[in-house]
Amino acid sequence: MQRNRTALDKVAFAPQYLPETTSVVPDLSTELFGKSYALPFGISPLGLSGLMWPRAVEILAEAARKADIPMGLSHFATSHVRDFRAIAEGNGWFQFYPARDPHVRHAMLAEIAQTGFEELIVTVDIPTATRRDRELRTGLSVPPSINARTLWEVATQPRWALATLLEGTPSFKNLDAYIPQGLSMADKASFLTDIIEGHVTADILRDIRAHWKGKLIVKGIMTVANAQKAFECGVDAIWVSNQGGRQLDAMQSPVEVLPSIRRSVGPDAIVLADSGMRSGLDIARMLSQGANVVFLGRPFIYGLEAIGASGGDHVIHVLREELRCALAQIGSATARDLPDFLAYQID
Ligand SMILES: Cc1cc2nc3c(=O)[nH]c(=O)nc-3n(C[C@H](O)[C@H](O)[C@H](O)COP(=O)(O)O)c2cc1C
Repeated sequence: MQRNRTALDKVAFAPQYLPETTSVVPDLSTELFGKSYALPFGISPLGLSGLMWPRAVEILAEAARKADIPMGLSHFATSHVRDFRAIAEGNGWFQFYPARDPHVRHAMLAEIAQTGFEELIVTVDIPTATRRDRELRTGLSVPPSINARTLWEVATQPRWALATLLEGTPSFKNLDAYIPQGLSMADKASFLTDIIEGHVTADILRDIRAHWKGKLIVKGIMTVANAQKAFECGVDAIWVSNQGGRQLDAMQSPVEVLPSIRRSVGPDAIVLADSGMRSGLDIARMLSQGANVVFLGRPFIYGLEAIGASGGDHVIHVLREELRCALAQIGSATARDLPDFLAYQID
């Protein structure tokens, strides 16, 4: 996570002053897969976000639709695809963890297609669950382990506690139908881990391509070789990501690998990216390295946790304003022009 921050900080712009016009209103709109969006950023898929703020998915889906930005629904979301799609409409994408069993995988894909999704994100960078010390220390597990510290934290967050109580226990709503009846919470969790455990092979990706008629995006690409392999498997876009630094500490940051990936796939390929951005200026930095559109994860959760249901709108508002200011200051008329304003190449 720290490396994502340090790498972004290395990106510097060379502002161009003395232009021919005084206008400082940059055009932030963008186009992806033939659809137009108001802003060049979106919301990354976040599993279990309902645990962090009740109805996080619904709140963020509404914010995404209103602001006209894309949002990915995690396969491990605590809200049902139908409810999400009804709120997010065409701005909602679906993030898929492919089951290794083709029958289960195809049934899941059919359900997602029936719900009306046009964009499918296949995440490939979680071949196994990682051991996360902080989660172990705080007792973040399924089912949750309740200790004195948890009880104290719940007691000191009355708004969260009340809303969570009213909403009921979060569950994996999009996977429940595939889980055998009568399992305990712990057995449900290990059943789910088992059906997705292991690498998403190139064959699985090709199989998904054959069964998915909409746009196919592969998330978790971090090397030139993988970018090329993904396009060879027939995907429509790659999503450069290190999961926000959640899976492996000894990894490069997306902002460091984007330039070489962009050079290798050419100017017309669609390259999305996330990990580490915390401001509109960071969005400008990531876009300047060759991403078409970028996504943010944790900042949206922080917004909800800090100010509740208006957190989604607020975070989008702040990011939009910061991005607008950054472009105006640099002198870049659109987000696409940002690479022309770099002070130097970082790779
Ligand atoms: C709490 C949390 C849950 C996540 N769940 C998923 C998930 O279910 N599927 C997925 O593809 N990525 C998941 N991610 C990764 C995000 O989609 C994204 O890659 C990452 O958050 C970007 O980094 P950032 O948080 O620094 O913006 C999750 C990230 C967080 C923080």
